[in-house]
Amino acid sequence: MTMINEKLPKIWYGGDYNPEQWEKEDWDEDVRIFKLAGIDVATLNVFSWALNQPDEETYNFEWLDEQIDRLYQNGIYTCLATSTAAHPAWMAKKYPDVLRVDYQGRKRKFGGRHNSCPNSPTYRKYAERIADRLGERYKDHPGVLIWHVSNEYGGYCYCDNCAVSFRKWLQEKYGNLEALNKAWNTRFWGHTFYEWDEIVVPNAVSEEWNGNSTNFQGISLDYRIFQSESLLDCFILERDVLKKHNPDIPVTTNLMGTYNELDYFKWGKEMDVVSWDNYPSYNTPESFTAMRHDLMRGLKSGQPFMLMEQTPSQQNWQPYNSLKRPGVMRLWSYQAVARGADTVMFFQLRRSVGACEKYHGAVIEHVGHENTRVFRETAALGKELAELSETLLDARVPAKVAIVFDWENRWATELSSGPSKALDYVNEVHKYYDALFGENISVDMVGVEEDLSKYELVFAPVLYMVKSGYADKVKEFVQNGGTFVTTFFSGIVNEHDLVTVGGYPGELRDLLGIWVEEIDALPPEVKNQIVMKNDEGSLSGSYDCSLLFDIIHSEGAEVLAEYGSDFYAGTPVITCNSYGKGKAYYVGTCPDKAFLTDFVKTVCEEKQVKPLLEVPKGVEVTERRKDGSSFFFILNHNADEVVLGNVEGTDLLTGKEMNGNTSLEAYGVMIVKQ
Ligand code: GLA
Ligand code: ZN
Repeated sequence: MTMINEKLPKIWYGGDYNPEQWEKEDWDEDVRIFKLAGIDVATLNVFSWALNQPDEETYNFEWLDEQIDRLYQNGIYTCLATSTAAHPAWMAKKYPDVLRVDYQGRKRKFGGRHNSCPNSPTYRKYAERIADRLGERYKDHPGVLIWHVSNEYGGYCYCDNCAVSFRKWLQEKYGNLEALNKAWNTRFWGHTFYEWDEIVVPNAVSEEWNGNSTNFQGISLDYRIFQSESLLDCFILERDVLKKHNPDIPVTTNLMGTYNELDYFKWGKEMDVVSWDNYPSYNTPESFTAMRHDLMRGLKSGQPFMLMEQTPSQQNWQPYNSLKRPGVMRLWSYQAVARGADTVMFFQLRRSVGACEKYHGAVIEHVGHENTRVFRETAALGKELAELSETLLDARVPAKVAIVFDWENRWATELSSGPSKALDYVNEVHKYYDALFGENISVDMVGVEEDLSKYELVFAPVLYMVKSGYADKVKEFVQNGGTFVTTFFSGIVNEHDLVTVGGYPGELRDLLGIWVEEIDALPPEVKNQIVMKNDEGSLSGSYDCSLLFDIIHSEGAEVLAEYGSDFYAGTPVITCNSYGKGKAYYVGTCPDKAFLTDFVKTVCEEKQVKPLLEVPKGVEVTERRKDGSSFFFILNHNADEVVLGNVEGTDLLTGKEMNGNTSLEAYGVMIVKQ
């Protein structure tokens, strides 16, 4: 496990900095202002490939030497990017294989960023080469803290190079065409392949449309896995060459939370430390941001992560780029720290004058000085974080509850034609997360490889795809006393998206003690009811439900609730099966928020998993733990002051002793040590 902060053992504070877009006279001013804000890390060289390498033979890093040295002499360290997220124009002109082919089948021309084909031999060769030069040059520089490879990897390519690599990848995966034809069920619509080169990439000119609709889930799913791995291979290529020069400098790349196109659990394994870019919009639920932080922490089984980017105030790429209200930047920064971030960094340190990000917020705004609201808030936070650092660094977030999140399952769910276009995997996962968040119960977001034995409760909403061995893993967990919760549209297919025949929910059927005979799908506005047969913990009476409605037969499970209407009124909708020492719940429909709140309370109470603190609504509480001490983060997301009841301890931020009526201001934060 890497302690990211070794060279600079504090909560790193800083962000993306592009001095190459400015004149020399601005640089000293930058440093003066950074110091006022407690900024001690600058991310350099993110989009400077064209500057570093003006042509095929020439490399020019003098500008970068000067910047890294200058900053270091001023006590500012460098998070050093490798600049490979946008290729130079000369490369696109000379070697068109670096250009992607898009989803519509159009060959791109030079333009944009994150624009290189991951299977282009030219891109790979020059990306590796520049990483090699950078590694060689800066391996011993005392100012270089960490490598930031490329930037926000993403997007897919559908070019001929990708087609060739895809076929190779398929050959390795399946061995022979017979196995592939079987896995893709190609007898359907007469798609049997007899030669590998008959296989073409799935996009709008072949099997797909609308980005996630496909005739053949098999090929589309494999293409997503393949493209995610292709980009990951590019990351690994640079990482390895950097490590060759100095294995002690950690390597990361900035991820994007619940970004669809990359299987981040595979990425997490290859990174020394996970970092990510957090850009909620003004109306993103705070529980959604919290879930994304927890997911990023989950990629490396709870190891602290880096908040690589957030805006000090507004963005430029949302439809409405609202300002962060006074206090909100601080609040959201602490939300990241509360959930495991050991750095707080911004995009960007100085706002650019031209191109599409000139209206993106920055620590130094266009006015050019420090007398701004945004700067004052930045500086105040910098001071606080510096003081907290030693106390909090590397503290862990203990959780007894896990929610399973799986990218391949997500892709398969989205690609499936039917039963409902309104089914959105991330949204369904978030509903359960939100209910737990509302109770201030800490959650780990885990992949399917995570060990479950450390949890009391595991939720796996819409576990449509049950990968080989996973059902046994869950059964063992329940056998040993764990509580497992899953929902409608689970246990349906194997990892090739082939249906497990013999009755839904397939491999989970005996664990859940039910058989789902039919699945009804109705427009989201059409409601049915979940009618409780008896009161169970906090559950009682009737709740609304919608979206999908499984028609269930109990095969030994206890029926806790039945449908209230339609032709399946009076049949089971919520069941609980005892299995070994544990229990397996099935929620056969998409319940309203009231049900989920009462449901998570009930199952958590059964397992003695308690809210961290009792606090007013809209107040988030998390715990980080270190050296036997607990730190409770109390975050007021309300635009009004709240009174905290029976919270005891000392607030690390103010030194204030809490008593029965401590108030917390609008958007306020407390960190209570116990
Ligand atoms: C991303 C990128 C940055 C910048 C910001 C703007 O996170 O990594 O380069 O474009 O978005 O919000
Ligand atoms: Zn390609």
